[in-house]
Amino acid sequence: AGPGARTAAPTALAVPAARAGGCPFDPAPEIERARREEPVTRATLWDGSSCWLVTRHEDVRAVLGDPRFSADATRPGFPFLAAGGRELVTSKPTFIRQDDPEHARLRRMLTGDFMIKKVESMRPEVQRIADDLLDRMTDGRDSADLVSEFALPLPSLVICLLLGVPYEDHAFFQERSRILLNLRSAPEDVRTSQQELQQYLSGLAESKRHAPDDGIVSRLVARGELDASDIASMGRLLLVAGHETTANMTALSTLTLLRNPDQLARLREDPSLIKGAVEELLRYLTIVHNGLPRVATEDVTVGGVTVRAGEGVLCTLNSANRDEAVFPGGDALDVGRDARRHVAFGFGVHQCLGQPLARVELQIALETLLRRLPRLRLAVPFEEVPFRHDMGIYGVHALPVAW
Ligand code: HEM
Repeated sequence: AGPGARTAAPTALAVPAARAGGCPFDPAPEIERARREEPVTRATLWDGSSCWLVTRHEDVRAVLGDPRFSADATRPGFPFLAAGGRELVTSKPTFIRQDDPEHARLRRMLTGDFMIKKVESMRPEVQRIADDLLDRMTDGRDSADLVSEFALPLPSLVICLLLGVPYEDHAFFQERSRILLNLRSAPEDVRTSQQELQQYLSGLAESKRHAPDDGIVSRLVARGELDASDIASMGRLLLVAGHETTANMTALSTLTLLRNPDQLARLREDPSLIKGAVEELLRYLTIVHNGLPRVATEDVTVGGVTVRAGEGVLCTLNSANRDEAVFPGGDALDVGRDARRHVAFGFGVHQCLGQPLARVELQIALETLLRRLPRLRLAVPFEEVPFRHDMGIYGVHALPVAW
């Protein structure tokens, strides 16, 4: 080991660490402790292999913004969060797991679709979808599961519309997404789901060749630069990233606000707080919570520690988003806070492509829900809410509410 390098601590932290502290909205206590006491520390993964855990805001941004850290999962040393993760590597990679210049070449084909101006123009359509779903949910009833009736179908309908994927098939692709994102899925189930989604989207790309529309899949076909399987990989990434994330943020944010009645009251009194409140909820909840994986391609010093070429790193966004150095009093939810420096969407070249869309969806979903259901409340004891401890994207499996 060279200067600055440290040998592995005798008791390396086991990851992914469950959010098993007193409050299910907080990061795992051991990750918080690591940030305070040993911000770049060794961690042990599910298969006994080890990697570095980077927990402070400054260091997380340094790693994610540094091209010497690769997102290419085919490189030796890349840290996998679950057994199923390796399965995704054998099939066609998508640009989230590629480095520049290939990553940039593919991402650039989609940037126009997710530009703020383009996405802002979708507000009336997203609003209509939100209103339709709430009309249906509340029709003749006074309670429902908010996840299945509102939080999930809203972004799912929107991403289907954008891609040109028939929403009638939602049971098929939502089930496959759930398997891909479940940390406990058997590797063979991950492989099968991946292949089925890939086949489905390849078939869709082929069909658009004969019957084009104005969706993203059709436009990628018309560009003529990618074959059907490349288009299917991209479509798969957008489909999975496009609904599970916003869906979970919507449901978990609603629950968080119900548990923080003072913050909920502020938001109801002054709906102009909604944009800032969404950023604060993104920060506070950080649903992509198990750490973004990277592997060093050279020796790099991070937070005073030398990470060797070929060593894996996990950047824990949830601990970075509670870092007192950037967010004083960060363990409390404060809808009036300026939370814009949060890293809930990642940082650097892979920073979330869909963030303008996620913001519009979340702002509309939460504003509409609070405005239309002024007596919204939890319909079961808080202890009975099923949190997604088993999933790569945090949230709740169901949210029984009444109004
Ligand atoms: C990337 C979070 C919604 C599409 C990412 C990354 C994070 C993230 C943390 C970085 C991954 C990495 O660096 O390894 C979120 C959150 C969302 C959200 C918290 C909602 C609240 C969406 C939506 C879409 C989307 C609605 C749209 C379809 C993508 C894509 C990437 C990405 C394509 C890969 C970007 C690249 O590698 O260049 N997202 N996301 N996301 N997200 Fe999102």
